[in-house]
Amino acid sequence: MVLLFIRHLDIAIKKHEIMSVIEWIKRTTLIAIAISLEVAVMLWLMFYFFTETLILTLTPTFMRTQKSLRGKVVVLTGGAGGVGQELALRLARANAKVVLWDINEEAMVKVKDNLEKEGHQVYCYTVDVTDRKNVYKNADLVKQEVGVVDILINNAGIVCGNTFLDIPDYMIEKTFQVNILSNYWTVKAFLPDMLRKGKGHIVTVSSLTGMLGTYKCTDYSATKHATIGFHESLHTELKTHGHRGISMTIVCPYFINTGMFAGCKPNMPMLTPREVSKRIITAIKQNEVYVTMPTWARFVLPLKQ
Ligand SMILES: NC(=O)c1ccc[n+]([C@@H]2O[C@H](COP(=O)([O-])OP(=O)(O)OC[C@H]3O[C@@H](n4cnc5c(N)ncnc54)[C@H](O)[C@@H]3O)[C@@H](O)[C@H]2O)c1
Repeated sequence: MVLLFIRHLDIAIKKHEIMSVIEWIKRTTLIAIAISLEVAVMLWLMFYFFTETLILTLTPTFMRTQKSLRGKVVVLTGGAGGVGQELALRLARANAKVVLWDINEEAMVKVKDNLEKEGHQVYCYTVDVTDRKNVYKNADLVKQEVGVVDILINNAGIVCGNTFLDIPDYMIEKTFQVNILSNYWTVKAFLPDMLRKGKGHIVTVSSLTGMLGTYKCTDYSATKHATIGFHESLHTELKTHGHRGISMTIVCPYFINTGMFAGCKPNMPMLTPREVSKRIITAIKQNEVYVTMPTWARFVLPLKQ
């Protein structure tokens, strides 16, 4: 900054500009003060958010404020799948109004029946989340039939599980459509109402492969990296525009034994849909922004750099 100041002053003197050197000094000093202030604010914010993260990370769950899910309208995509079923169960037990969206109607009806046996009311919509118009149409239906959506959980996902040259082109496109493009349609469908209400929550079920490229996952891993970019960018936009009542959570789990990665033999035991769904519910209640499973992965992954 000092060098910049001297260079500007030097140019001003050499060019014999009309503006006096004193004017230059005044101007450049003001610029230097403004830059210094901005740097100071940035450093303060870095310190503040780092300290906040550290404190929240070290605070046990039972000591943190928990948001109630009672009466909240929750749309859960992929609600008939391994993680989806468990999430639906926990949401229903927390007295949320659970709205399942899935392409697999048969499996979804089974989930609904099981939950109804426990006395919960569940709403099911057969939706292909890759079909933008269908997403918008069903979003309107949910608003009319259940109510304005408070929480959106983008959980639907698929994987092909082949090495790059063996993945058929149509599967690459499909994986991108289900795992990331659909998030644009669902968020576009529900975010405007959240903005109007001044509150809401968008949850994305990503993966650790979204933070670390993995064998046989060139398509899947790329889509999960994209979900993280989507999450971080939208989160920044919402904060910048002052929409602090809208929370965003991204969850990056290791392998889960739902059958999605059947045949895969990872080094560590797979997670269970039960523990993943439990963690997701805690993250929603605590308005957590980032969740990795296992937790220690968040400290180890930066080492890849
Ligand atoms: N299983 C794992 O090892 C693992 C690990 C990390 C992250 N994840 C992520 O967790 C989420 C849930 O995965 P899961 O293990 O429960 O998988 P799953 O296959 O059991 O469930 C996925 C659900 O998504 C639904 N779905 C697929 N395409 C759809 C579409 N076009 N429209 C609507 N619904 C559609 C399926 O019908 C299914 O019910 C996914 O996003 C997945 O990528 C899974």
